[in-house]
Amino acid sequence: MPESLAEIEAALAGCRLCPLAQTRTNIVFGVGNPHAEVLFVGEAPGKQEDLGAEPFIGAAGKYLNSLLALAGLKREEIYIANVLKCRPPGNRDPLPAEIEACTPYLRRQVRAIAPMVIVTLGRFATHFILKTEVGITQLRGRVHITGPFSVLPIFHPAAAIYDRSKEPLMEADFKLLGRLITQRRAEMAARQDS
Ligand code: URA
Repeated sequence: MPESLAEIEAALAGCRLCPLAQTRTNIVFGVGNPHAEVLFVGEAPGKQEDLGAEPFIGAAGKYLNSLLALAGLKREEIYIANVLKCRPPGNRDPLPAEIEACTPYLRRQVRAIAPMVIVTLGRFATHFILKTEVGITQLRGRVHITGPFSVLPIFHPAAAIYDRSKEPLMEADFKLLGRLITQRRAEMAARQDS
């Protein structure tokens, strides 16, 4: 039996593995359906998330919620976690040492949830999950297979809020996500029948 999300969250409590422990208000573990078919991985908590202890509750989260409908998803059926569980001061980029210290928790979350699809939001999540340095612009909009997971890299919602020309691509990618989920469900059903 893989460990439960509750066990992983208990292991994370009071974490002091990196200096972000000194500046955070709250650890932001992740939220959602523990048996989600789709796991969304973001970058790191922002100001609202640091205060509210929940991922994607600020402006980027509101935009993300509006996009989920295009994939036929409701927020309560997915799981959302971040590469970093604590906010980098001023929302600066995560540092390599912070990613190294924090991502064992994310790896454990992936194992516990065992999703069929992982949606990586932005370059830090995409680089960590796909183990590549290729730019997000080249990777987005296509399904990548890694182990048992279908991975769909998408621009970070905050990047699309900042640069509105990305909105049509975001919408296209969430529609692709809807088709991917339908296809993966059909594959799973066929496997169970055989
Ligand atoms: N941006 C992220 O990457 N994660 C959050 O939780 C909020 C904003």
